[in-house]
Amino acid sequence: MSFRKDFLWGGAISANQVEGAFDVCGKGMSVADVASYKPNLNVEDYAGHNKVTSKMIEDAIADKTTKFYPKRRGIDFYHYYKDDIKLFAEMGFKALRISIAWTRIFPTGEESEPNKLGVDYYLSLFKELKKYNIEPIVTLSHYEMPLHLSLKYNGWVERKVIDCFVNFAKVCFESFGDYAKYWLTFNEIDSVGRHPFITAGIIKDRCPEGNLDEAVYQALHHQYVAAALATKECRRIIKDSKMGCMLTKLTTYPNTCNPEDVLLSLNSNLNNHVHADVQIFGEYPGLYKTLLKNNGIIIKMEENDEEILKENTADYLSFSYYMSRTESADTTKEKASGNTIMGVKNPYLPSTEWGWQIDPVGLRISLIELYDRYRIPLMIVENGMGAKDVIEADGTIHDPYRIQYFKDHIREMKKAVEMGVDLIGYTSWAPIDCISVSTSQMSKRYGFIYVDQDDEGNGTLKRLKKDSFFWYKNVIKTNGEIL
Ligand code: BG6
Repeated sequence: MSFRKDFLWGGAISANQVEGAFDVCGKGMSVADVASYKPNLNVEDYAGHNKVTSKMIEDAIADKTTKFYPKRRGIDFYHYYKDDIKLFAEMGFKALRISIAWTRIFPTGEESEPNKLGVDYYLSLFKELKKYNIEPIVTLSHYEMPLHLSLKYNGWVERKVIDCFVNFAKVCFESFGDYAKYWLTFNEIDSVGRHPFITAGIIKDRCPEGNLDEAVYQALHHQYVAAALATKECRRIIKDSKMGCMLTKLTTYPNTCNPEDVLLSLNSNLNNHVHADVQIFGEYPGLYKTLLKNNGIIIKMEENDEEILKENTADYLSFSYYMSRTESADTTKEKASGNTIMGVKNPYLPSTEWGWQIDPVGLRISLIELYDRYRIPLMIVENGMGAKDVIEADGTIHDPYRIQYFKDHIREMKKAVEMGVDLIGYTSWAPIDCISVSTSQMSKRYGFIYVDQDDEGNGTLKRLKKDSFFWYKNVIKTNGEIL
């Protein structure tokens, strides 16, 4: 068995990491526009996103430049989208995962009418994709909620934000439904706990008694309900639409066969799956409810919330996969580096320059596990490695490390498909260099296409094809047969 004939090969980007043009055509500020450049972020600091304070945001708003806030400039995809889509088409892309910047459509999130210029921008982008028969996979919320909603409601902590989001979603379905069939609600919904501000606009000093934990669970509940209501609207407005949920797949191994290690990894995996459980099974798992109760966490729910969750479940499960993690009961063990997740170092795995441990077999394990658990189609919507690239004197860029990474992961995907996993698509992160979500670096490059811009924003923005560009093109051409 091989990849299905209509397999969705492509790439994934998010508005806030590529578009730039943060203050044009009526766009409002989003939480991404106040994310500063932090090249020296380490594992412990990643949780530093929890430390975003009102003061830091005020300072960022007062600074109108893009100097310390690279997501404000992105790679100027806002103006380059036609050129970039042409390059994606040249690689043979069947699909492109994008997100819609909420603040281009509703600058504060609370307007009664959408911003026409924002709608027009995305309409022309969708038309461009259609020109090349590239299927859009559209994420409604990818770490870019309106800053106004964060400041006024402490982000997703207040229920009011559900209405704002569903209203935004409805406008997207009505405006772009003729062009887009595949939708996703929240990017890495589980990440609210890891970085409450960028995912859910939560500012710690605005939480009652600084109680971040309760705020996180409340925000998650509101996002689950909002996702279910958006799913309902999507089905009502767009015929044959497919609405997916999206998880950071954090497959966790026990460091040894010590039952204590096994138990820790079991709990980590259960905690990771909770978010897909709610959106696919349409209810909170019993063990999770008990966990909340035992920790004294009370989530405010409305009477029909459970019904809303039950009736509007996801059609497919999408996920990002970058690395696996390893848990150990031995607290003296060396911690693994990596921006998104913590754990201990796995001695069997190599790492990227940023310390993310490379584990292609972990992708196969994840696919098997997820398909066995949920039994609905799966889509890998992010997978890739950040690396520093060098331009040779003749303008070529040799990136064998990236080719190897993808080769190894796609080979494992194939083995999972051979076992019977229903995998419908794969969009690499990211097909073109863009601003890193965690560090706001440009030098942490993921693309098949190089963008001439450095961390300070210097450069011509010229696009160059790396060796991996030609390699991926052939992978798509042969439907994954030649790697
Ligand atoms: C994922 C995000 O968690 O990781 C992407 O959905 C992000 O937006 C990707 O870019 C890689 O992380 P980073 O920090 O290297 O950009």
